[in-house]
Amino acid sequence: MARDELLDASPVDEDFAADGIEDAGLVGDHAGLRPQTLDDFVGQPELRRHLQIILGAARNRGESADHLMFAGPPGLGKTTLAHIVASEMGSTIHTTSGPALERAGDLAAILTKLGQGDVLFIDEIHRLSKQIEEVLYPAMEDFELDIVLGKGPAARSIRLEIPTFTLVGATTRIGLITGPLRDRFGEVARLDFYDIEDLQTIVTRAAGILGVEIDSAGALEIAVRARGTPRIANRLLRRVRDVAETDFDGVITEEVAAVGLELFGVDAIGLNKVDRAILSALCERFGGQPVGLSTLAISVSEPTETVEDVHEPFLIQQGLLMRTPRGRVPTPAAWAHMGLAPPISADATQPNLFDD
Ligand SMILES: Nc1ncnc2c1ncn2[C@@H]1O[C@H](COP(=O)(O)OP(=O)(O)OP(=O)(O)O)[C@@H](O)[C@H]1O
Ligand SMILES: [Mg+2]
Repeated sequence: MARDELLDASPVDEDFAADGIEDAGLVGDHAGLRPQTLDDFVGQPELRRHLQIILGAARNRGESADHLMFAGPPGLGKTTLAHIVASEMGSTIHTTSGPALERAGDLAAILTKLGQGDVLFIDEIHRLSKQIEEVLYPAMEDFELDIVLGKGPAARSIRLEIPTFTLVGATTRIGLITGPLRDRFGEVARLDFYDIEDLQTIVTRAAGILGVEIDSAGALEIAVRARGTPRIANRLLRRVRDVAETDFDGVITEEVAAVGLELFGVDAIGLNKVDRAILSALCERFGGQPVGLSTLAISVSEPTETVEDVHEPFLIQQGLLMRTPRGRVPTPAAWAHMGLAPPISADATQPNLFDD
């Protein structure tokens, strides 16, 4: 269980998962790992450049920035960027999430409390209900809020002006965002997995903040196994630090990192247990035949969304899994990674027995 947690990009036990706690200054050991400014934000150079321009120009005009959407797998920095947008604009951030906004009144209550130029951060924005979206449209476009008073034939609607604000939306499922909502954002940015060099920088920076001594080979070893994800890089660093302090002299070298990561069951390329179970199902159970998403999800006992949002993107990015019209298939690299030889008869042109 501990091993799964280690490689899971979900924000359990995370430094900054609870904004309320962070705001109250109650963060412990991991305080400060989250970059506060665009300059501190490592990687994603194109996105950083866009934000520099968008935020800088808005600041110079004395206006609030255009609405921004950040999309991408868990742990890549969407929440971090929302906070950076607010701090770069010198404004206050208000945080909520799609599932938390149940009734139109919930959103109205938040919108009427916003100050001029504030940032409203809606996490998991793909989970907004249709009703709430309808309230959001005029708020985003014209900074107006339509409120319906009363019911039935006597109902009347009044229009309230609200301060101009910047909506920052975050989502792991860009495909679920409706067209009209998407069109109302000035920029829809997709976050990519980080390359090893950027992760190495993130690990080195985090070690500095945590006061851990680490050499560049040690940071590289952690970066290579961080699954392209800063959240995982930081988590692995904390575990390796524990090993360094317990079994070594506290300094993280390549050797210490390798011993520590092995101790916690981290695969040489950072795959977690479910990633490996997926590859094993594709190669062994289904013998390389195309497999439908729901069949695959059932065979590894995970919800289809988790397989689709968390595992597939990284396996595809690593060149281990391919999506074909008839299902998911393992690549030759997947067979090699699992230490298996692809069957001679594995022929992707055969009829698919396992599709949904
Ligand atoms: N570019 C970066 N540079 C340095 N550290 C980063 C960067 N991006 C993310 N991090 C670190 O990774 C952690 C996770 O990032 P964050 O919470 O922003 O991810 P997220 O995309 O919002 O994930 P989720 O989808 O689970 O909400 C942060 O606490 C921060 O410490
Ligand atoms: Mg987040």
